[in-house]
Amino acid sequence: MGSNIHRPGPETLAAAGQLIRDGQLVAFPTETVYGLGADATNSMAVAGIFAAKGRPRFNPLIVHVPDLAAAQKLGVFSPMAKHLAAAFWPGPLTLVVTRVAGSPISDLVSAGLPTLALRVTSNPIAQALLRAADRPLAAPSANRSGHVSATRAEHVAADLADSVAMILDDGATTHGLESAIVDATGDTIVLLRPGAIPIEALESITGTTIARAKGHASQPTAPGQLESHYAPRAAIRLNAASVEMGEALLAFGPAPLAATGPSFNLSRRGDLIEAAINLFSALRTLDASGAAAIAVMPIPNEGLGEAINDRLARAAAPRA
Ligand code: TXA
Ligand code: MG
Repeated sequence: MGSNIHRPGPETLAAAGQLIRDGQLVAFPTETVYGLGADATNSMAVAGIFAAKGRPRFNPLIVHVPDLAAAQKLGVFSPMAKHLAAAFWPGPLTLVVTRVAGSPISDLVSAGLPTLALRVTSNPIAQALLRAADRPLAAPSANRSGHVSATRAEHVAADLADSVAMILDDGATTHGLESAIVDATGDTIVLLRPGAIPIEALESITGTTIARAKGHASQPTAPGQLESHYAPRAAIRLNAASVEMGEALLAFGPAPLAATGPSFNLSRRGDLIEAAINLFSALRTLDASGAAAIAVMPIPNEGLGEAINDRLARAAAPRA
């Protein structure tokens, strides 16, 4: 263990950038915690992040970009969002904004949401990696699911050594607490996750009181309360053995059920990574067909199947 930890110089950073462009995972430091990075425009690479976390769940991921100009190519910035970015970037603030039309960012990154969480870190090694990779980097905290966030390269290695191509070492992070996440999609700013910037500091910049979100995805209290997750309009019926009248079919594998209405096969060859990549666009497509319900074939609960089933169970949970 530890062999893929590097104190990066220019050559190592160039190699790390190439690994990202090749669809590999590279763990990198930020001023808050270490991130498990992948090319945010490459769905296979993003699926790899979820697989590496273990007991995976499709929580939406933060996209790291070098500066506000790069962020504005991916998301729509209101005057207030720009104001916050100008005040706190680079720094431990993540802004949730609406995706631009035709966004190159993988659907899997934002778990099917029409929004994107964007962050500009001040860590020089992360900045150098962003330049070397020349790609926006999707990166959750670099720890296995259920473990605490990693604040040293050795923590990353202990959790994820087998799944990352390289770990860029910058010693201990300066904050040790994740970024504050703010929803800046609307007229009023909402704090989605308290973090390394206190709410008072945000308020002194906005000149307003900032509301705190209830039941954010980082602290779910019940499956139905994941309000930041995309919820289909159609009812979802899991483990379907047949398709009923008026239902659309979400199929999986080489032997799909017979369907009379709209259907979408997540992976004809039964590949769970391919299924993960297709999941959110499949739900959207079937939902848009106008079917009252979507019958979902059983999906093996192994590898990324666990995250797919977790997401489908949430989509099937009773709505408030
Ligand atoms: O400090 C940090 O933010 C670290 C470093 C690596 O950047 N990253 C981090 O990522 O903490 P993660 O995946 O552990 O937490 C990301 C949080 C999740 O709670 C997720 O629900 C939220 O960001 N999030 C991501 N995209 C979102 C979106 N479009 N809308 C609402 N919340 C979003
Ligand atoms: Mg985390």
